[in-house]
Formats: sequence, structure tokens, C-alpha cells
Amino acid sequence: MPTTIDTTQTTILKRAAIRASLAPSVHNTQPWQLVLTASSLEIRADWTRQLHVLDPSKRQLLISCGCALFNVRVVLAADGYDAVTERFPDPAQPDLIARVSLPESRSEWLPIGALDPMIDRRQTNRRRFENAERVSAESLSAFVSAANAEDAELFVIQEPEHRVVTASLSQRADAIQNTDPAYRAEIRAWTTADPQRRDGVPAMAVPHVDAGAGDEVPIRDFDTHGMGWLPTRTESSSHQCLLLLGTRSDDPTSWVRAGEALERIWLEATARNYVASPLTQVVEIPATRERLRAELNLPMHPHMLLRVGRAATTPTSRRRPLEDVLVERDL
Ligand SMILES: Cc1cc2nc3c(=O)[nH]c(=O)nc-3n(C[C@H](O)[C@H](O)[C@H](O)COP(=O)(O)O)c2cc1C
Repeated sequence: MPTTIDTTQTTILKRAAIRASLAPSVHNTQPWQLVLTASSLEIRADWTRQLHVLDPSKRQLLISCGCALFNVRVVLAADGYDAVTERFPDPAQPDLIARVSLPESRSEWLPIGALDPMIDRRQTNRRRFENAERVSAESLSAFVSAANAEDAELFVIQEPEHRVVTASLSQRADAIQNTDPAYRAEIRAWTTADPQRRDGVPAMAVPHVDAGAGDEVPIRDFDTHGMGWLPTRTESSSHQCLLLLGTRSDDPTSWVRAGEALERIWLEATARNYVASPLTQVVEIPATRERLRAELNLPMHPHMLLRVGRAATTPTSRRRPLEDVLVERDL
């Protein structure tokens, strides 16, 4: 018979699983399987959801799982538990990304617990950002601290020449991808105008793409069905707030940590009423990624370019039903 404590543990871990699935993921693939046991919640990679053209190394799949892991840690922290987190605990099971359990006692105050309500508010916002308001220095420093707390690095792109080179390399990467039929086929498979579909990027959350949107730092063209709901003019300029997230090493554990850092920054931004959208093309093409690293003299491996600003909300993207992602074992 489970004890009262076990039941409470299970309730908290189940709530964490539900909120893990609200995490961002590349093309909204939601490439995870969550396993709830009597004493832990496991986050497992679902390799069947890998984007083979865009993400051959599985880096972005693991970053996505890292985002889900961070949500789990936030939910536990909101309940006063400093999650016991083991990353890749079993080399024989490479799909076991993390096992999270509760410590024996509660902590007084865990700052990331305050981010729990932001999990519902966070979204990828691909609208035009208001240029008038710059991201405050206090916020930028909070984002850098958030990255560092997760063993990641955040490079704030500020120098005019860095902005120019980031924009031009992003354009080059975007152009290379768009001429690749396999890339176009993959993005078509993961974008949808079907309001019933529970994964993939929905038409409601992407700009309607017309010839010559003319973004300096291109927003990925997800409007493969020509039904994008958001206004065409996104004005993604090289002057907006651009953040580059990276890690010192470039291996699976670092990618999971980068995901945890990404979600932490994103939730911190949401708490400050900022919105964000990733612009990942430049780090997907090996040549532009290396060039970016060299031109900006980066002491890290870049994983994600993120723009941050202010904009009205957009329709939310959907999530797979819980019974498809959550397995309950030995309860
Ligand atoms: C690793 C990763 C890479 C992403 N790359 C892009 C991108 O290049 N362009 C973009 O518009 N959104 C990108 N996204 C955002 C996802 O499309 C988004 O999280 C997903 O569609 C779910 O929507 P939501 O964030 O609004 O919940 C990325 C997200 C992750 C986690």
C-alpha cells in the first residue's frame, strides 16, 4: 500500500509531468516520453520524433527535452522541493535523459519556483516586436545569470558589426535551407492548418509569408500551407535584442543543459512581460555556425539565437494528449 507521503510525491510528480509537456520544442515535435514511477519522474527522448534533415545530431531534440526538464524542476521548486536531478543516469539507456525525484525535506525558498505561473504564459511569438522599448539592462543581466545558473553561456549581441554579421549569416543559412527540397518536405510535415492536430507548428502562430518579407534576421518560413494567421510584416531587424545561447562543450549533456537554460531565460523574460522567438537557422548549417563562432569570437558553442522584445500574444500551439506522453509504472 502506498503511504501518504508516496501519494503526495506521486501527485507532485504527475503535476510536473503535465507541465513538462508545455515546454517549447523544435517544430513542436514534443520529442519526449515521461515515465512516472512511485519515486521518480523520468524524461526520455522519443527518437521517432527526430527531425532528420534539420537536426541530424539530435542536438535540438535534446535541447527540447532539457526545456521539459526545467519545467519539472520549476514545478517541484514551487512546492518547496529542490529536485534531485540525475542527467543521463544510465549509459546503457541513452534515451533516459533525466531522472527526477524529490529530496527528503523541503527547502525554505527556491527562486525558480516563482517561475511556475510563467509556464502557461510563455509562448513563441513570431510577431513584429515593438522597437520603441529596448530590453532593460537589468533584464539582460538576469538572463545572463539564468544561463550561467544552468552551466550555459549567454552572449548579448550588441556591437554593430556583430549584428551585421549575425544577420548576414542568418540570411545565408535560411537561403541554403529553403533551397533544399528535403528541408522543405520536413517543415511541411511539421506545420499544420488542422486545428485538431496536437503537434507541429500551427498556422495560427505563424506570419503569413509573402514574397519579400525582407527580414534582416529571417524568421523561419513555417507558412508552408499559405494560411499563416499573423501579419506578414515581422520586421525582424538586426537592431532588436538578440541573444546567443551556448555551452562550453558540445555534447549531449551540454545540449540538455542548454535546453534548461533556454527555458529558464524564456520564463524569466515572460515574468518581465517580454516575448521571445528562437531563430535557429544560423546554427543548423555547420558552416554558418562555425563562421558565427569565429566572427563573434565566441568562447562557446552556439545553440540558439533568440530575439526578445514586446508584442501582443499569439494563439497558443497545442500539445499531445497526456496519455500519449505519460506512462505510469509500478504505482
Ligand atoms: C530547440 C528549439 C528550436 C526552435 N527553433 C525555432 C526556430 O528556428 N524558429 C521559430 O520560429 N521557432 C523555433 N522554436 C520554437 C518552436 O517552434 C515552439 O517552441 C513550438 O512550436 C511550440 O510553441 P510554443 O513555444 O509557442 O509553445 C524552437 C524551439 C526549440 C525548443
